[in-house]
Amino acid sequence: MSSNDGIDKLRAIEQQFDRERASVVDRKSLEDIRTRYLSRKSGLLTLQLQNLGQLPREQRAEFGQAANKVKAKIEASLETLQTAIVEREQHSSLEGEAIDVTLPGNRKRIGHRHPLTIVRKEIEDIFISMGYTVEDGPEVESTYYNFDALNIPAGHPARDPRDTFYISEQTLLRTHTSPVQVRTMEKIQPPVRIICPGRVFRRDQFDPTHSPMFHQVECLVVDQGITFGDLKGTLERFHKLFFGEKTRTRLRPSFFPFVEPGAEVDVSCGFCGGPGCRVCKGTGWIEVMGSGMVHPNLYGFVNYDAEKYTGFAFGGGIDRYAMLKYDINDLQLFFQNDMRFLQQF
Ligand code: DAH
Repeated sequence: MSSNDGIDKLRAIEQQFDRERASVVDRKSLEDIRTRYLSRKSGLLTLQLQNLGQLPREQRAEFGQAANKVKAKIEASLETLQTAIVEREQHSSLEGEAIDVTLPGNRKRIGHRHPLTIVRKEIEDIFISMGYTVEDGPEVESTYYNFDALNIPAGHPARDPRDTFYISEQTLLRTHTSPVQVRTMEKIQPPVRIICPGRVFRRDQFDPTHSPMFHQVECLVVDQGITFGDLKGTLERFHKLFFGEKTRTRLRPSFFPFVEPGAEVDVSCGFCGGPGCRVCKGTGWIEVMGSGMVHPNLYGFVNYDAEKYTGFAFGGGIDRYAMLKYDINDLQLFFQNDMRFLQQF
């Protein structure tokens, strides 16, 4: 072999490399081509350099220089390819992570209160502002507090198991919030000024105005010199604050065993303002509560001096207040948890 043959081979290798480098697209093909030309054992160029020893002495320098030139060229070319590949990889991974800040974001839904909770808190706030405290009582109640101590005699229709959920003979799900009157009077001496909102239970079929579970709020005031006028004034003030200043309140004689005298409470119809409409069934008035002066018999159950103290009480449905306030015509909507309904509040 002469150095000329060798140099021809080097040229051929160089040209081959120039063709093949076009197919280098990623790290893998880059490593392949590097191995093919430069690997220490079998690289095409390495093999040529091994021939150096077989050349006549005087030709070695020329061939060696030429081979080193090709090697340097290939190495530089591989370097350039490597840089390009790394750049391309970085670019495409950045592209994958790119965030388009002009796209609309994912709107997070913020939870909010149930309409019954809104109304309950509103009622609580009104009474708290008038100096009342908010009491609580058990939903599983004894017949003593639910009936006996409220002057509801044995055999009274309200005690009928067809209307009341009994747990045992003397335990039931409270049918109203009135038992909290007695529990409160057992706990504290007058002056008493409390309200008690809570769940109550009756064996009613579901319909637009009935549910076996619903909500009431009870009010009890006992002190020296409390009169029926205080009852009326309190109800008037409350209804004006809750429904609006134009609202009037009317009391109609009625009977409840735990008050004497007792009265049904009506508010003027906020929908028609008087002349009569679908909601007030043409009367201009809507019944919202039962009320009255605390029956003296109750004081006997709790060791209050019936000669010294008088008081008033009233109780009504929170659900009903919410229906009137928001013009909702089906009680069931409160309990179905349909988001389309709940989102409106
Ligand atoms: N507890 C009665 C009911 O559930 C409502 C009621 C009437 C409450 C008269 C009272 C009252 O405090 O004085 O129907």
